[in-house]
Amino acid sequence: MGLGWKIFARPIISRLDSERSHDLALSTLSKFDRSQYGKSLLSGMYQSPELPVHVLGRLFHHPLGLAAGMDKGAKALSAWPALGFSWIEYGGVTRFPQDGNPKPRMFRANSERALVNSMGFNNPGASSVRDSLVSRYASGNWPNVPVAANIGRSKKVNNEQAPSDYASTLDTLWNHADIFVLNVSSPNTPGLRDLQHEDLLTEVLSQCTGIRNRYESVKPILLKLSPDCSDDQILQISDIASSNGLDGIVATNTTITRPEPSNTQSRIAFSQNGGVSGRPLQKRSLEVISNLYEYTDGDMTLVGVGGIDSPDSAWKAITSGASLIQLYSGLVFNGPGVTSSIVRGLKRKVSENGFSGISEAIGYAHR
Ligand SMILES: Cc1cc2nc3c(=O)[nH]c(=O)nc-3n(C[C@H](O)[C@H](O)[C@H](O)COP(=O)(O)O)c2cc1C
Repeated sequence: MGLGWKIFARPIISRLDSERSHDLALSTLSKFDRSQYGKSLLSGMYQSPELPVHVLGRLFHHPLGLAAGMDKGAKALSAWPALGFSWIEYGGVTRFPQDGNPKPRMFRANSERALVNSMGFNNPGASSVRDSLVSRYASGNWPNVPVAANIGRSKKVNNEQAPSDYASTLDTLWNHADIFVLNVSSPNTPGLRDLQHEDLLTEVLSQCTGIRNRYESVKPILLKLSPDCSDDQILQISDIASSNGLDGIVATNTTITRPEPSNTQSRIAFSQNGGVSGRPLQKRSLEVISNLYEYTDGDMTLVGVGGIDSPDSAWKAITSGASLIQLYSGLVFNGPGVTSSIVRGLKRKVSENGFSGISEAIGYAHR
């Protein structure tokens, strides 16, 4: 075990209060973010091999990125690539600053390798995030990988005001990310998931693409879905997304369903409000990716997220139809070596299958 593991990951696994561990790890990582030496040190230990893929008009070093929620305020943006990620999604950011739900709001179920969270979009708000990204860019500390921004609805806004709330955040962050993800699927903001219904969704999407048109820019906008929608609903949402000019789907957010707990710790975790992430989510997330790939004949760009923590689970997401993948819980349970070990495993599978690159594996299970 290397030095990086000791300073970065051990607090995550050894403490019981999950949010405190997360904050500690993030503040350590943000120190690395500010130091060129620190980043070289991490990258010496955790750099991933190259497995390039061209998606959404950009070249990614490999498909695996950091999922939303880990770096809500984009505090350690440049340190993530040093941990081997080929792209980063910061946020969820909302128009207004928010504290989120009362603590405790993040629980672990170690045996199931699952987290339950009810954070509720705690974040500094769009203007503050923008200001810190402006100074980051000015100081030359911008990561040289694609950056996505995850956008949520402010809690104090109702669903009728949601379209302009999303559009305002998108506008504020437009020059400070390469890709945007509209999150209408977090279970922790009351009423948010109702935005997946046709009329409201159409209004959110059309106001957001309106902002893009104003900038006369081609940056991709994706929609992040809930795994708790029915199969029919998911296909209908993908129709609404593509007819409104969206560029892809992120599948999926956390689930409000609960697995059977195997011990007391898990029973306590699963009895909390909020969304489950990690291994128990993997099956449904794969199903959603697969259904969407089949329904759209592979024409819709899919980002796979949910329970990816090994080369096998990553390979399954890609061969089911995901062009890019992300993880959050896998990092918490496996530590920072998880990224490079997944990418190395994917590279091995590409060559075992006689493919010329990872692009050939996308959707392979359907052929
Ligand atoms: C503590 C926590 C906070 C999260 N916050 C967000 C968020 O702000 N926006 C979002 O779209 N997804 C959020 N997510 C969901 C993740 O991005 C991801 O979709 C989910 O955790 C499944 O991936 P995993 O199984 O690899 O963790 C959050 C997840 C966790 C565990």
